[in-house]
Amino acid sequence: MNIAQGIAYAQQFLTENLINDPYLNAKVDSYLLLQAVTGLSKSQLMAFDDRSLSEENQQKLTALLQRRAKGEPIAYILGETEFWSLRLNVSPDTLIPRPDTEILVEQALTIAEEKIQQNGNVSILDLGTGTGAIALALANELKKCGAKCRILGVDLIQGAVEFAHKNAVRHDLLEVEFKQSAWFEKIAERFDIIVSNPPYIDAQDVHLQQGDVRFEPLTALVAEQQGYADLQKIIENAPQFLQPNGALLLEHGWQQGEKVRSFFVEKLWQNVVTVKDYGGHERVTLARLK
Ligand SMILES: C[S@@+](CC[C@H](N)C(=O)[O-])C[C@H]1O[C@@H](n2cnc3c(N)ncnc32)[C@H](O)[C@@H]1O
Repeated sequence: MNIAQGIAYAQQFLTENLINDPYLNAKVDSYLLLQAVTGLSKSQLMAFDDRSLSEENQQKLTALLQRRAKGEPIAYILGETEFWSLRLNVSPDTLIPRPDTEILVEQALTIAEEKIQQNGNVSILDLGTGTGAIALALANELKKCGAKCRILGVDLIQGAVEFAHKNAVRHDLLEVEFKQSAWFEKIAERFDIIVSNPPYIDAQDVHLQQGDVRFEPLTALVAEQQGYADLQKIIENAPQFLQPNGALLLEHGWQQGEKVRSFFVEKLWQNVVTVKDYGGHERVTLARLK
């Protein structure tokens, strides 16, 4: 079997075995698996597609295809994924970062740049940091513009905290600090910006039985009170950990915008707005502390 035949075989195998997965991109997954097996880049696979695959590599490919055919996310099989142009290690301890979350990063960057212009520096807290995706994307961008910043990411799960730290090492972003904390439990300072993509799915949601989420931990996905408990808890506690005119930015489900806005009480908060994702769905709500 040569590389071209390996790609064709993988694509057909995935298409036939994951027929009910609406998110499957068999071609993308096939290239990623062949890259993992051979150590070649996508362009090398394409340029040398008549090279033969060793017996050992064919066996490895079959083993990976069988895992993928059971629905295991490609990111967990490869042990990494891409977020905001950073390749991040991922583990079943936490969520695989999603492209939708880049909306939160974009909004936070705009506010961070404003704070830097005003004060010459910025401090950011990332609650429920998981792989460190949001904190590291922000740190990477702010580093490019030479800004002085303090970024802290916290997570309930110690394994996630360790992975986030590994990702910081991987990208030479050691100025970002990570520690274990249940939301604000171990926080003892005020920040200019608090960001969070907390669990926000209702335990009864049928999507929990579909696609990648079946393999992700419920601690990263599910919240009580139809998915609103953690969003509400963070909004209620954030004022004690924000500087005056500090900003809170929260990712949430596309049908949760209205209720999330209602959690920001007028006495404490101003400029409450919800931003849509690239699919036109309400995705991130932000507000300023008065
Ligand atoms: C939806 S995931 C987001 C992960 C990451 N920020 C991202 O956007 O890819 C939610 C994260 O919140 C963490 N988490 C859940 N409950 C928490 C709590 N009480 N305190 C701190 N983190 C919590 C989970 O472990 C998980 O890593």
